[in-house]
Amino acid sequence: KFREAEERAKKRPRVYKEPKSKAPLSPLCPLRECPPLGLESHKVESDQIMASSISQYRYAAQRARLNMQSSDDEDNMRGGAWCANSEDKEHWLEIDARQDTEFTGIITQGRDSQESQNETDYVMSYFLSFSNDSREWTNFHDGYSDWLFFGNSDKDTPVMNQLAEPVLARYIRIIPQSWNGSLCMRAEVLGCPLPGKLLNYTQTQNEVTPVDYLKFKHHSYSDMVSLMKAVNDECPNITNVYSLGLSSKGLDIVAMVISGNPTEHEIGEPEFRFTAGLHGNEAVGREMILLLMQYLCKEYKDRNGKVQRLVEGTRIHLVPSLNPDGQEAAFEVGSELSSWKTGHYTEDGYDIFENFPDLNSALWDAQDKGMVPKLTPNHHVATPENMAANTSMAAETRAIISWMESHAFVLGANFQGGERVVAYPFDGFRLNKADEARKTADESLFRWLAISYASTHLSMTNNYHGSCHGQDAAVGVGIVNRAKWKPITGSMNDFSYLHTNCMELSIFLGCDKFPHESELAYEWEKNKEAMLTFMEQVHRGIRGVVKDQEGTAIGNATVSVEGVEHDVTTAPGGDYWRLLNPGEYQVTVRAEGFTSMTKLCVVGYEAGATACSFNLAKSNWDRIKQVTGSHDPLRQRRSSKGW
Ligand SMILES: *[C@@H]1O[C@H](CO)[C@@H](O)[C@H](O)[C@H]1NC(C)=O
Ligand SMILES: *[C@@H]1O[C@H](CO)[C@@H](O)[C@H](O)[C@H]1NC(C)=O
Ligand SMILES: *[C@@H]1O[C@H](CO)[C@@H](O)[C@H](O)[C@H]1NC(C)=O
Ligand SMILES: *[C@@H]1O[C@H](CO)[C@@H](O)[C@H](O)[C@H]1NC(C)=O
Ligand SMILES: *[C@@H]1O[C@H](CO)[C@@H](O)[C@H](O)[C@H]1NC(C)=O
Ligand SMILES: *[C@@H]1O[C@H](CO)[C@@H](O)[C@H](O)[C@H]1NC(C)=O
Ligand SMILES: *[C@@H]1O[C@H](CO)[C@@H](O)[C@H](O)[C@H]1NC(C)=O
Repeated sequence: KFREAEERAKKRPRVYKEPKSKAPLSPLCPLRECPPLGLESHKVESDQIMASSISQYRYAAQRARLNMQSSDDEDNMRGGAWCANSEDKEHWLEIDARQDTEFTGIITQGRDSQESQNETDYVMSYFLSFSNDSREWTNFHDGYSDWLFFGNSDKDTPVMNQLAEPVLARYIRIIPQSWNGSLCMRAEVLGCPLPGKLLNYTQTQNEVTPVDYLKFKHHSYSDMVSLMKAVNDECPNITNVYSLGLSSKGLDIVAMVISGNPTEHEIGEPEFRFTAGLHGNEAVGREMILLLMQYLCKEYKDRNGKVQRLVEGTRIHLVPSLNPDGQEAAFEVGSELSSWKTGHYTEDGYDIFENFPDLNSALWDAQDKGMVPKLTPNHHVATPENMAANTSMAAETRAIISWMESHAFVLGANFQGGERVVAYPFDGFRLNKADEARKTADESLFRWLAISYASTHLSMTNNYHGSCHGQDAAVGVGIVNRAKWKPITGSMNDFSYLHTNCMELSIFLGCDKFPHESELAYEWEKNKEAMLTFMEQVHRGIRGVVKDQEGTAIGNATVSVEGVEHDVTTAPGGDYWRLLNPGEYQVTVRAEGFTSMTKLCVVGYEAGATACSFNLAKSNWDRIKQVTGSHDPLRQRRSSKGW
């Protein structure tokens, strides 16, 4: 019977009827399918997913979400799919849409298995069945016999099947007929909820107040560049578009700066950055940044006071796509089928986020030898000498590094996807003497910065959802220390903190890395205030200008805060920013050739950084040097130590 069904399925012509209630047409949905119900995004809740049986607890029905990732830890409870008990005769996976729905299609995927690459479990063919009450079931039929759908031929690539005709029902079952290895699968269901036929279920998620001037769509690389040009044309006085370098395939990594005077750094004005798309398939951050550009431009023109203050007092750099090659690769496959990894890496196969020089080891080794800060500075750790010759560094990473080095960035965040949490550094892990993960000197400030985003985001702290792939590392507060969660070496955040003045965090925007376009309006609602609030944090702590007694700016002076083992340096114009939580601080400024100076600076709870400027006197050694015209190297060395 199965052979017969297979023969018939192979011969069947592909004709599709549109659902009556289909979502608005979009270029991403050429086949006019309805959007996903949200197994991947977790919009479909755990109790909406059921199965006939499970092989083990770790392969429960709730693990059947598309792109679910297993843990690489063998004895944990997090399998990479739903797997059925092989003893059973009939197997099914059931999804309750909780409302009348026009089902239009289904996407399946095999089991994610990080622990053993040689296991390949996937479903090759299946029937579909529908019901209005979960008792009476009707198999999808071609008028003669059950319609067999062909599924996967590997464990990772999602395969979509569309129904020739939409089916109106509340429940759907996938009934596997043939499989490779064990019967395991992950899935997403496409369907349009029937309007006005809501069962007793409040779907508050979709109640968004649309903003008329914003268009919610995914952008290809060229659409993205056009949009940025259009915003630049609309707001030429406060925006400037520039490139921070080329991708491996030669595409510009485009940035927009938004500020009162966008083309230059103004003394005293901190520089801020939001970046996204270092993994090209993590599309939400890119779209949020593009929406933010349009929002800031429009609201500035409309004299929104909060936006005007932000734009005039900050130099905001927005980079929607750090990996344009990856963006193109993922965009081509589209939001539903781009899988977990398509476009994640650069064209040359690098994960940009983990491709930065490992400066943690250098600093930690020096710390362990007791050399910090007397002999080795606790900040601006140098890049390795062989970096220029290193062939294992992506072109994109190099471009980002020189960009980081050439602006007075104070605070930044990179948007990522696949989880719902704000992660703060260190990202790299090493135990300290007390057997704990090492913390940055700015741990409490980093936690504050992370909380400022997570708590303003509309759903990041909703702990009842749990995390996307397993235990909630953030235990309901929406923030996590990356080293304790998923440690990595050579991260962008650790590099930024150790090599520059900029504090950088990672913001993971949700389980679905590349959600359907219809989700973007809600994503914007969730993130808008959080983005504004986070940007405002750049004006927290102390700021000032360091000058000599003639009023000449001193660049590269060191600003140390007592009790915080991480200094910052002044920009070439002598200006500096030191983000700090409220409190009283002894602040010492040192510069070569000058006598160091200490002051008490008080950070209050009100908005805005406390001004704390310094005028340094020439050191005695420097004066003697000037008088005698001596260039004794010993004296120079002494004076550089601040004698
Ligand atoms: C799969 O890999 C494991 C080791 O990771 C090995 O023990 C096992 O024999 C392999 N199985 C097959 C079928 O190759
Ligand atoms: C569910 O009910 C609707 C009418 O409300 C009907 O049109 C549809 O065919 C039913 N679906 C199934 C699978 O029985
Ligand atoms: C399952 O798939 C793997 C790799 O795709 C293949 O090597 C293996 O022969 C398949 N097993 C069966 C039973 O088809
Ligand atoms: C919907 O459910 C709530 C609680 O579950 C109940 O109080 C309410 O009466 C229900 N409404 C309808 C229309 O059935
Ligand atoms: C730009 O600034 C000039 C001078 O301040 C002003 O006249 C002009 O209207 C501004 N243009 C836009 C598009 O805001
Ligand atoms: C080259 O750079 C990569 C990425 O930063 C790094 O992982 C690797 O260790 C470097 N190799 C050498 C020899 O320094
Ligand atoms: C900044 O000062 C440090 C010493 O305090 C020095 O090692 C470094 O080269 C200086 N950097 C620049 C850009 O002048």
